[in-house]
Amino acid sequence: MKANQQSKITLNENIPNHVAIIMDGNGRWAQRRFMPRVAGHKRGMEVVKTITKAASSLGVKVLTLYAFSTENWKRPQDEVSFLMKLPITFFDTFVPELIEQGVRVKVTGNIEGLPQATQDAVNRAISDTAHGTKMILNFALNYGSRDELTQMTRSIAQQVANGEIVPEAIDEQLIARNLQTSFLGDLADPDLLIRTSGEERISNFLLWQIAYSELVFTDTLWPDFNEQTFMEMIKEYQKRDRRFGAIKK
Ligand code: FPP
Repeated sequence: MKANQQSKITLNENIPNHVAIIMDGNGRWAQRRFMPRVAGHKRGMEVVKTITKAASSLGVKVLTLYAFSTENWKRPQDEVSFLMKLPITFFDTFVPELIEQGVRVKVTGNIEGLPQATQDAVNRAISDTAHGTKMILNFALNYGSRDELTQMTRSIAQQVANGEIVPEAIDEQLIARNLQTSFLGDLADPDLLIRTSGEERISNFLLWQIAYSELVFTDTLWPDFNEQTFMEMIKEYQKRDRRFGAIKK
């Protein structure tokens, strides 16, 4: 049993290996306080630190956070540029703690499409934390699932055109190996997907990988999310009966 002192939430040993989170509601959190939207993102970044520590101490193996989608470029220029600087600030202040906790940073998405300074910060964090074995902190950055599936299709089509594989060799494993999450191996599919802020949609996130994920939604805005809310989401996950299309034994 894992207990949270403040809330007295007790969890059983069934901790999800891979938790993915759509961190939504930063803008609304700020607007409700008559603050600029980016103030919500700044606060949201602090919550990322809290939840990373909580997930790692619960025994989560992979925490995937949707930090910037391929569609987020449509936002106003000043908001986009703030969001591009956030990973730099985050890694500048948090990498020593990540190393201490044995957390390894990875990125899913098109890193090469990010500004150079953001790419440099991300690549530095990836190499500085490369020895971490406790948990992977996987940022979905410049990530979009349809883009990922398009690239996968193109890559497999090219392999067929090159004569490297025959069409009959295309199966679920080959597709998974050609997705941007392939480095996660058996842990690529989230067990639990959380979305904050009351919105109940997937927004182009891990469409292939969430085929059998448990989806849990909360009205809490991301900047208000904390260890207790996280434990509540996991508690909800533990009530679910996962059958993966089979029937109960
Ligand atoms: C969605 O809220 C949030 C984002 C698009 C950005 C998420 C980024 C963070 C939480 C910080 C990430 C930190 C690091 C280290 C990269 P929204 O702006 O769509 O909120 P709204 O729906 O209320 O407008």
